[in-house]
Amino acid sequence: MNHTSHFTPHTSPVPVIAIDGPSASGKGTVAALVAKELGFHYLDSGAIYRVTALAAMRAGISLDDEDALAQLASHLDVRFEHGEIWLNGEKVGDDVRSEASGNAASRIAALPRLRQALLEFQRGFLKTPGLVADGRDMGSVVFPDATLKIFLTASAEVRAERRYKQLMEKGMHANLSQILQDLQQRDARDSARSVAPLQKFADAYLLETSSLNIAEAVTEILALYREYIRQAS
Ligand code: CDP
Repeated sequence: MNHTSHFTPHTSPVPVIAIDGPSASGKGTVAALVAKELGFHYLDSGAIYRVTALAAMRAGISLDDEDALAQLASHLDVRFEHGEIWLNGEKVGDDVRSEASGNAASRIAALPRLRQALLEFQRGFLKTPGLVADGRDMGSVVFPDATLKIFLTASAEVRAERRYKQLMEKGMHANLSQILQDLQQRDARDSARSVAPLQKFADAYLLETSSLNIAEAVTEILALYREYIRQAS
């Protein structure tokens, strides 16, 4: 198979692997493992939208108030350390992973000025020796000259089951049919918005994982990346 078209010819000097895709496709787990394997940094951009939504709710800001949200986002004090998220010096905990936070994140993520306010913060994660970034617009907007762009997806039913298991393992409340409904609603909103919509662009490699487990998806991405290194050297 010729994978050459998925490598950007003018890549940034520090390599970036952009992994985009719909909710609960497993891209977060896969991206973190790819980063670990390569010794790269990892950006969970969805967590930034989630934590912004959480900060807004805590501050009593309406999720439709674009000006106030953009203002909040531009002064956000968020740190990622050892798998934990810190907001204003406090650990955020599992709240940020709830479906309520995901839905709130998806609502505010449709607001152009809020996205603009988070752009530089996300780009700040790009550091040597490299970055694996996951989200909806990593390859299209945040890192358009990423070395390798992956669109990682799976059927809605498979994704709902993955999310269900993930929430149960965290001891959080979960209802499979409600999750499926929420996912479909979120997919529709993320794909239909006018800024940075969730889309598979022509320069991204499609990785359908309905019948792939995490390890297989990781192996495939590593193989693609190593193929790039081989061709570039
Ligand atoms: O884990 P899951 O895929 O459910 O969600 P997430 O990646 O944590 O993202 C939560 C929400 O943030 C998504 O539904 C998107 O609306 C938004 N998001 C975005 O707009 N752009 C990104 N780069 C990442 C997330």
